Amino acid sequence: MKKRVFSGIQPTGNIHIGNYLGAIKYWVASQAEYDNVFCVVDLHAITVPQDPKVLKTKTRELAGLLFAAGIDPKQSILFIQSHISAHAELAWILNCFIPMGWMQRMTQFKEKSHDLKEQASVGLFDYPALMAADILLYDTDVVPVGEDQKQHVELTRDVALRFNNIYGDTFRLPEPVIPQVGARIMGLDDPTKKMSKSEANPGHAINLLDSPETIRSKLMRATTDSLRDIRFDEGRPGIYNLLVIYELFTGLRRPEIEARFTGKGYADFKRELGEIVVEGLRPLQTRYRELTSDPTYIDSLLSEGASRARPLAEKTLAAVKKKVGLG
Ligand code: AMP
Ligand code: TRP
Repeated sequence: MKKRVFSGIQPTGNIHIGNYLGAIKYWVASQAEYDNVFCVVDLHAITVPQDPKVLKTKTRELAGLLFAAGIDPKQSILFIQSHISAHAELAWILNCFIPMGWMQRMTQFKEKSHDLKEQASVGLFDYPALMAADILLYDTDVVPVGEDQKQHVELTRDVALRFNNIYGDTFRLPEPVIPQVGARIMGLDDPTKKMSKSEANPGHAINLLDSPETIRSKLMRATTDSLRDIRFDEGRPGIYNLLVIYELFTGLRRPEIEARFTGKGYADFKRELGEIVVEGLRPLQTRYRELTSDPTYIDSLLSEGASRARPLAEKTLAAVKKKVGLG
């Protein structure tokens, strides 16, 4: 039996090469080994204000990019969270088993609500319960997450355990796993900060759908230092980050890359890196254009994904409702 791996991805912001090199690439490669469920979490997105048109467009764009990157709808399940009402329904039931005190300890809520203060939505506070429902509905074994989401997976385990203690074995306990494989890609404008979907500066990230001209010009303007030699030196975060991007797109070894640029300047290197990234993203971009040339195609893949996920989710939900005495 393959392990079930559940990943939730928010359809907000622009998907960038950090997401691709640090996560999506590995998801694609792991499809034979794991039983993957990918969920575009639009219900989580609305915990903060969203423009309806943008949300809907971004949801399909993200799904399209994942398919274009190589997520195979025959091997993996990819669907939109709001297409399966069991997520919201189980979240409600779990709410009734999560003490306020557990939720009040969640650091992400404290950070996200800091500026909003009393205006933060109840949904934002309750975000971890919905995430717990996502994970528990599918008998998940493993949840690959960043450090920031680990606490939410631990809360998921705690509520599952609590429910199992009251009603008998119902939920499988998931393990949070922080993947070590992916490199952390840093911002082009500030190589001391992780490349992020929510950064406003357009020079910060290379997005997966950026045009070749945009990619080239973002790289030419990327922050480096005033030194000359092109070496993998973590003490020089700007050039180091660009070299890591070069390494990950080409698969070449570090000494080979350094040898290639001995005696050359940053401008030469950045120009060549531009071509490497443009060519590296070209197959994905071409595939994305093919997938989206028929505006109904992505929707039909997503509706198939939901049809495969729904019976799994409904089975868990039905067992939970029965135990609680609902219906
Ligand atoms: P996020 O963009 O934070 O929703 O993250 C989606 C996935 O991409 C997660 O698995 C992250 O670990 C990964 N990821 C996000 N930003 C980076 C980055 N700058 N470098 C490497 N991986 C990243
Ligand atoms: N909270 C996660 C994030 O922001 C997204 C998410 C929602 C998720 N549901 C999930 C991740 C379930 C893993 C499992 O990155």
